[in-house]
Amino acid sequence: MMKTVHSNAELREELAFVRSQGRTIGFVPTMGALHEGHRSLVRLSKQQTDVTVVSIFVNPTQFAQGEDFDRYPRTLESDAKILLEEKVELLFLPDAAEMYPKGFATSVHVSGVTELYEGAIRPGHFDGVATVVYLLMHEVEPTILFLGQKDAQQVAVLKRMVQDLRLPVMITVGETVREGRGLALSSRNRMLDEEALSESDALYAALQTVRNRVFLGDDPEAAKRAGIAKFERIATHGKLDYLDIVHSETFQSVPSFERVGAPVTIIIAARFGSTRLIDNMKIDT
Ligand code: PAJ
Repeated sequence: MMKTVHSNAELREELAFVRSQGRTIGFVPTMGALHEGHRSLVRLSKQQTDVTVVSIFVNPTQFAQGEDFDRYPRTLESDAKILLEEKVELLFLPDAAEMYPKGFATSVHVSGVTELYEGAIRPGHFDGVATVVYLLMHEVEPTILFLGQKDAQQVAVLKRMVQDLRLPVMITVGETVREGRGLALSSRNRMLDEEALSESDALYAALQTVRNRVFLGDDPEAAKRAGIAKFERIATHGKLDYLDIVHSETFQSVPSFERVGAPVTIIIAARFGSTRLIDNMKIDT
């Protein structure tokens, strides 16, 4: 049986009972329009914890003016069906007034990593993400927070926040779930037209090219050049926002593989019409 709650008070009441039994809580925050990527996080939570809480909240504060907040797909009925199939215990569906009561004026700002790449292109985006995840975790008090590698920079921001604010929660990062041809699943994929959908293969193809070139001994600049060329061969209309090789935690660009001494991630973002897609690949150097 899945229970659906809309308020923080109801959520706390349900979870107080769970906690009194000493059971662990897994939390999967989402914005809905659920797909296999979300489902894989739910499955991880089911494996690793006793009770799984999923939230669906299209968070207005992480969309900038003119972004796709209004267009963002809202598919509550099929979302609830998926969560029921996965035997999720608790679905949290707050509205904006519940999350941000009148007069709400506080935000969580992580510096550094939030200023680069997605943060540079979408000012304020990661403040919105950090604030809403902080608020949600304050209510859920999960044992483990489940996040997808698909949004690598979001993972870096939230890990930083959890560490800096000493939040008593563990983080499990789930692998990126992809379609057959390699396109990372995203709620935004359904906003692509046919041309954009075929060109979107360029993201994963470019990531693979960069990774292969790195393994063959290219330095970052040469590997990135090859990746950009690959992208442009496939995507003739799509526009590349960035393709870079960065330190996985700080998102600082890696100028050379000598003495990196840390995991690195290849990151890519591109626009197809009015839809932006991002992807990434972690590599061991
Ligand atoms: P949303 O885009 O709905 O994603 C919810 C979670 O699913 C995130 O942790 C995301 O990284 C993960 N996810 C998305 N696509 C995935 C894929 N193809 N494979 C694996 N995991 C995938 O990310 C957000 O919502 C919001 O920013 C949120 C954290 C809920 C705060 O509002």
